[in-house]
Amino acid sequence: MRTPLLAGNWKMNGSADLVEAFGRAFAEAELPEGIEVVIFPPFPYLDAARRAFADTPLRLGAQSLNPLHSGAHTGEVSGRMLCEFGVRYALVGHSERRQLYREGDAQVFDRLLAALSVGLTPVLCVGETLEERDAGRTMEVVLRQVGFVMSRLEPEQRPRVVIAYEPVWAIGTGRTATPEQAQEVMAGIRDYQASYDRELADGLRLLYGGSMNAGNAAELLAQPDIDGGLVGGASLKVDDFLAICQSAG
Ligand code: G3P
Repeated sequence: MRTPLLAGNWKMNGSADLVEAFGRAFAEAELPEGIEVVIFPPFPYLDAARRAFADTPLRLGAQSLNPLHSGAHTGEVSGRMLCEFGVRYALVGHSERRQLYREGDAQVFDRLLAALSVGLTPVLCVGETLEERDAGRTMEVVLRQVGFVMSRLEPEQRPRVVIAYEPVWAIGTGRTATPEQAQEVMAGIRDYQASYDRELADGLRLLYGGSMNAGNAAELLAQPDIDGGLVGGASLKVDDFLAICQSAG
């Protein structure tokens, strides 16, 4: 049985007040038994979040990390530093990093390895553009992105990865993939993992991201191969994100 994972990716948004509001709301929240909830705030809020989330079920994630542990890399943040703030997860390969900051598969893999090396759980983000979907290349693109990483990992590293399928055309657009569209791709990702190891395929957590909200989360999360969500816009509203978490039961 896979533990449901609900993740809020705040991107370059949020505030110290929002961190406090999440801490207060989730300290008293009734959540379904056994789900995991992670917030990925911008780096400057990590310390405040660690304190505000201390007596809540909320865990902390980082939106990116540098592949190196330290050095002359102005503006960058290392996995070791993130661990000092109680961070447990790290996004790698988010489409915004791939498209806006030119992170290719190799750079994504380096970041994922860096996360594993310091004990972070990497959330590998994959997804196709609308052009690629319309050209019938969805699985080709998604499995290229997944395969580039999984084929280079050691067998004992693979189960530590979480995969988030985020169709680029659904991110921030309000145009959510249908549960059937999402389930089809996630089943394809899980079948691919079975080519390595059936136990790996059955244990790997697959998240859906792309305009998930309080109104569509329950139907998406009810799909057999969807083990959680990676939520952007709706994770900036405490009540909406709490409703999404509560629909995971
Ligand atoms: O990482 C999650 C994000 O890309 C999804 O954004 O706003 O479509 O939920 P949104």
